[in-house]
Amino acid sequence: MTNKVVIGAQWGDEGKAKITDLLAQDADLIIRYQGGCNAGHTVVANGKTFKFHLIPSGILYKGKTCLIGNGTVVLPEAFQEEIEGLKSENIDLSGLKISPLASITMPWHTEVDGYSENTAGKGKIGTTKKGIGPTYTDKMNRIGLKIGDLYSPEALSEKLDVILPVKNKQLKELFNLKTYTKEEVLELCDKYAQIFKPYVCFDWQELLRGMKKEGKRILFEGAQGVMLDVDFGTYPFVTSSNPISGGAATGSGYGPKVIDEVIGVAKAYVTRVGEGPFVTELNDKTGEEIRNIGHEFGVTTGRPRRCGWFDAVTMKYACLVGGLTSVALTKIDVFDTFDEIKICTAYKDTRNGKIYTSYPEDVYIHKYLEPVYETHQGWKKDISRIKKYEDLPLNCRKYLERLEEILETPISVVSVGADREQTIFKN
Ligand code: GDP
Ligand code: IMO
Ligand code: MG
Repeated sequence: MTNKVVIGAQWGDEGKAKITDLLAQDADLIIRYQGGCNAGHTVVANGKTFKFHLIPSGILYKGKTCLIGNGTVVLPEAFQEEIEGLKSENIDLSGLKISPLASITMPWHTEVDGYSENTAGKGKIGTTKKGIGPTYTDKMNRIGLKIGDLYSPEALSEKLDVILPVKNKQLKELFNLKTYTKEEVLELCDKYAQIFKPYVCFDWQELLRGMKKEGKRILFEGAQGVMLDVDFGTYPFVTSSNPISGGAATGSGYGPKVIDEVIGVAKAYVTRVGEGPFVTELNDKTGEEIRNIGHEFGVTTGRPRRCGWFDAVTMKYACLVGGLTSVALTKIDVFDTFDEIKICTAYKDTRNGKIYTSYPEDVYIHKYLEPVYETHQGWKKDISRIKKYEDLPLNCRKYLERLEEILETPISVVSVGADREQTIFKN
């Protein structure tokens, strides 16, 4: 096996965890490289459903090393809850490690996230309120805490002397929120130090160097998706990290040349949770049908996901900026009962008739855009037990091949159900 990155190619929830879990069988080291517990990753294995937020989906296999990388932001309470959940399922956590360079989400980060969302009015992003944006803001502003700081009393004390006056001023004057004393924060940090202690990987350099030297197989697990990327997504309606494959380098400790393949996971349709433009959104019976058949409700927040037809304009863009070498197409079984299936191949500007086949980055014009569709005949057959590509109905293969043609990218995996077994590896 080559070293692979699995990324979301749409707005998240594409089924990344299912694909990561499958590929993890053949990997030695699995690294989650960005995001935090805003992610909700579902794996269905042996009839059991597991939901992950921070812990790499590879943890279900024994003997794998699973690293939560430096590019992530970690809410200690969420980490603890996830650990306890897995322990109660008797999942072996001996391979779980967390980078001392990962950022800590402090209580003020979740409080500010909640406050900002509740008071933003038209500027509301629809975040998961897990403190993601404020934690990354402080990291970039160089007033964040990293997990390693918890074990270095002198550094922690010095850092807090710098951080707290700034933070408290912001909390009080900008947000009218509770401020924190140094004693309070030191007590919290002590608690966090206990939570992370069994997992902190202080020798991560040796680990990464050793894995590479021994030719071990590395799998990078992305969270969210290209269209939520802070640089390339529908900014400002995005998350605050880089889910694209480039993020795997900055968020793991490996350079980009370690990566051989990038698998972009996409649903056969599109979903989105939270605010922001969505040109192919269906606010009608078809959208509801997709939501109901596809069980499109958020893993992290339970919110109903917005649904729409497959958008090849954003997907072509994801192939480019995500650096995809192939696509894993999930949830095509959701269309088993559909008479017709649509693919959006272009956008039309309703103001002047202008046609866009490349993704227009200015999201403020998206409200004027309407999708240009091509229509494909459905296959009207249950495909959820099919194991071989050749056995898929002709209309289904035609649809997949048309997607490959439009995207100029091969489809390497076709997923026809949530279970591990319901997967067709194309080549
Ligand atoms: P992730 O965040 O990208 O890992 O995806 P989520 O776990 O948030 O959402 C994907 C949902 O679709 C989960 O409930 C999966 O169990 C389910 N799923 C994944 N692949 C398939 C598929 O091919 N068909 C169907 N019907 N469900 C799938
Ligand atoms: P997985 O990994 C879908 C969305 C939120 C919101 C925006 C910003 O399961 O695919 P944030 O809390 O990150 O500041 O919210 O990003 N969002 C996701 N949408 N799947 C996710 O993760 C998401 N993580 C964040 O709904 O629109
Ligand atoms: Mg999800």
